Amino acid sequence: MGQLSTRSIRTFVLRQGRLTEGQQRSLDEHWGTFGIEPTEGGIDLSQHYDQTAPVWMEIGFGNGVALGHMAQNNPAVNFLGVEVHLPGVGHALVEITNRELSNVRLIRYDVLDLIEHFMSPASVDRVLVYFPDPWHKTRHHKRRLVNATFLDLLSTLLRDDGLIHFASDWVPYARQVQSVVEEHPKFECLPAGDEFQQIVSLRPETHFERRGTRLGHEVTDLVIRKLPN
Ligand SMILES: C[S@@+](CC[C@H](N)C(=O)[O-])C[C@H]1O[C@@H](n2cnc3c(N)ncnc32)[C@H](O)[C@@H]1O
Repeated sequence: MGQLSTRSIRTFVLRQGRLTEGQQRSLDEHWGTFGIEPTEGGIDLSQHYDQTAPVWMEIGFGNGVALGHMAQNNPAVNFLGVEVHLPGVGHALVEITNRELSNVRLIRYDVLDLIEHFMSPASVDRVLVYFPDPWHKTRHHKRRLVNATFLDLLSTLLRDDGLIHFASDWVPYARQVQSVVEEHPKFECLPAGDEFQQIVSLRPETHFERRGTRLGHEVTDLVIRKLPN
């Protein structure tokens, strides 16, 4: 695992968490099976999964527990988890092997560089962004992951009618995302209704969601559809 990002403004700070023994062992034993390294020439996802199936990409999966739940509950979907935090990647590998999952692969890379330089257009059916760093301070808002540039990248990555499921415990961030979507020609927010509820119900509670609700934060889910060309 080499360089993670070429960006000058980063959406993450690499936290210095130490790897537990179990995480280190999992990385040593299982990264070769479940990890994908971005290499020149790009990533052909069909080479990495045992089944041909829709691809759902979770960005910033944290400890990977929600990713493991979803992969177990949706065996007919190929999951691609993207995260930069090494202990989180190690933890996710423990989840994957404990649950004996075969439909998950992981990439350790800045997702913005990953999409821009290594992913094929129209290769992903759904993008999941659960509780991204809210970057509360005004001078840090430029570090928020979801903005017009991110939507531009996703408009290439997603297939037509592909979805983004965004969830946040920071209402001002959710409002900002909603208005960026309203202004973007390639996306629309799904109205509250059966389809919206069905998609939202697939999201397991996450570690950062629990943290937010303990602090009394309100949780907002947005489901965003890529409009066909
Ligand atoms: C606030 S945590 C949320 C983790 C998890 N989704 C949850 O709800 O518990 C945000 C995560 O996104 C990751 N992240 C932020 N920017 C990223 C990027 N550009 N590429 C990949 N991962 C990123 C961080 O390392 C962090 O683990």
